[in-house]
Amino acid sequence: MMSSDADQTSPANEPQNNGPAGDPAPRPRATAEEVAAAFEDTKLAQVLYHDWEAETYDDKWSISYDERCIDYARGRFDAIAGDADDVSLPYERALELGCGTGFFLLNLMQAGIAKTGSVTDLSPGMVQVALRNAENLGLTVDGRVADAEGIPYEDDTFDLVVGHAVLHHIPDVGKALAEVLRVLKPGGRFIFAGEPTTIGNLYARKLGQLTWFATTNVTRLSILRSWRRPQQELDESSRAAALEAVVDLHTFDPAALEELAADAGAVDVRVRTEEFAAALLGWPIRTFEAAVPEEKLTVAWRLFAFQAWKKLSWLDETVLRRVVPKKFFYNAMITGVKPAR
Ligand SMILES: C[S@@+](CC[C@H](N)C(=O)[O-])C[C@H]1O[C@@H](n2cnc3c(N)ncnc32)[C@H](O)[C@@H]1O
Repeated sequence: MMSSDADQTSPANEPQNNGPAGDPAPRPRATAEEVAAAFEDTKLAQVLYHDWEAETYDDKWSISYDERCIDYARGRFDAIAGDADDVSLPYERALELGCGTGFFLLNLMQAGIAKTGSVTDLSPGMVQVALRNAENLGLTVDGRVADAEGIPYEDDTFDLVVGHAVLHHIPDVGKALAEVLRVLKPGGRFIFAGEPTTIGNLYARKLGQLTWFATTNVTRLSILRSWRRPQQELDESSRAAALEAVVDLHTFDPAALEELAADAGAVDVRVRTEEFAAALLGWPIRTFEAAVPEEKLTVAWRLFAFQAWKKLSWLDETVLRRVVPKKFFYNAMITGVKPAR
């Protein structure tokens, strides 16, 4: 059965100027009243924040649809499910929840993980960009504006359900996982990656705040003025960061996340974590990049940042994973299977 909540009308999914297929249209420029209301309504906040980000999201997060991100997406799949006995590639039909611009599913499809895909997100702007990206890549993908707590697809539809950096935005994660199991075919698998652990999130936020404070203050010095972004842009980033605090709802303890999926009815549940040294470097770098003018981020800098992150990821994988407890790593991923009938 489809969850009855799929039909609920909250301010977030209330039809506006309907887009194609009856889905709501994006609202990239929210009014002051909408932003004020968003602080009281987490789903409205998701829509406004992610509609606002949609057209610039790929640039902001260095998302691409080439070898670099295809390898990254495939690497996440292999890390959590690569050695599972039931995995037989490619999956026929896959669904992504909270697809954003399509980063995870489109790159997994390019990596040969799935033949056809459906992208869904609460933000109409994100679905629009994901479908455009899919079309540019020549992939067979359809899309819907959808709340993960009420997935608008029939029972037993998909062979694979994926998500990246989405579970921590969903108010009732247990309900979303139950929905995932409902739309999966018996024996189908889900994979979610890129979820912040509770301890990882603590140090990432602290490092981010310190880097923002240091960069925006040091660049007040006249000798470093050319490294300072215009005040108006910095203010806008701070306002966005305030809304970000409303959309980031959860962090996860790996053991508790595993239990949540088992309680939703999944079997063969497995949770892994990754990125410790890589996150300690990655968060200051990402924050620094957001705080300085775009033109200062040369190709050489970007290459250095990427290579450094890769080397530290290697250190995490080969050495630190053996000595540092799981819960200290920043990123959690989870997989599980819908029981066969
Ligand atoms: C951090 S972004 C990640 C986007 C993409 N998966 C990626 O990794 O680049 C989180 C996405 O989840 C979406 N989202 C938030 N709450 C949701 C919900 N309840 N149901 C479906 N999507 C949701 C947001 O609109 C946003 O696009």
